[in-house]
Amino acid sequence: MSIQITPLTGSVGASVEGVNLNEPIDKPTFDVLHRAFLEHGVLVYRKQYLQPAAHVAFAGLWGNPAQNNPLSPSVPGFPGLIQVTKIPKETASTEAWHSDSIYTPVPPKISILSAVVVPRGGDTMWCNQYQSYDRLSPTLQQMIQGLRARFEGLRLARMRGAGEVPSAVHPIVRTHPETGRKALYVGHPDTAHSIEGMTLAESRPLLDFLYEHSTTPDNVYRHMWQQGDVVMWDNRCTMHYAVHDYGEAERVLNRITLEGDTPR
Ligand code: OGA
Ligand code: MN
Repeated sequence: MSIQITPLTGSVGASVEGVNLNEPIDKPTFDVLHRAFLEHGVLVYRKQYLQPAAHVAFAGLWGNPAQNNPLSPSVPGFPGLIQVTKIPKETASTEAWHSDSIYTPVPPKISILSAVVVPRGGDTMWCNQYQSYDRLSPTLQQMIQGLRARFEGLRLARMRGAGEVPSAVHPIVRTHPETGRKALYVGHPDTAHSIEGMTLAESRPLLDFLYEHSTTPDNVYRHMWQQGDVVMWDNRCTMHYAVHDYGEAERVLNRITLEGDTPR
């Protein structure tokens, strides 16, 4: 069976047809997926109904599983496989544009979600952070080159009721270690706290602008989940946003994240 890669928007995301992720993936197939992943930032595989063991095996082709927070519930028997479930809207840290765990020193490079229970609604959106960088004026590109921001896990700490807020400093323009392309590395105002060496009053408008600029509709793919979908994304060159419009309805996604390297 031949693999088909079809772009989903003019900016980010592609769908993959002709692979069964519940079966072993050979090297030529992986190479096609890898190339498509680097090009499109997000890959969507429909109707996979990915089994936990196959999820772990597929993720292993891409890298090493990241250390999970011990508080996150995992799928019984699969310690690396986290269940994303039952997030009340008031405290949902995922309902904001973000790159996963940006407030840690070495954030995960890839996240892979598999939809188990899907409510009406509960879409996820992704944006292309290469494009966010590329479409800045050369003058602003130059101005922000080399700037570093402090990122905080404020929403996560709130969600968990934890007193300690994790934080890390990263460049706001990062170079993707595999493609060599520059991408804007920012996040929601709760997360992107301030730019090193600037006052809050100076940082805020710049970080707010870069956030707004990154997340305009022409830079976004919105995924309407169906049971059995698998979506994987590159945290080094995309951000994502989990829309919470499903009230108390059940929503379960299995998730694995893969260790990244220090953003540079
Ligand atoms: C995540 C996340 C998106 C969603 O797992 O990192 O942001 O739609 N999830 O649940
Ligand atoms: Mn996330």
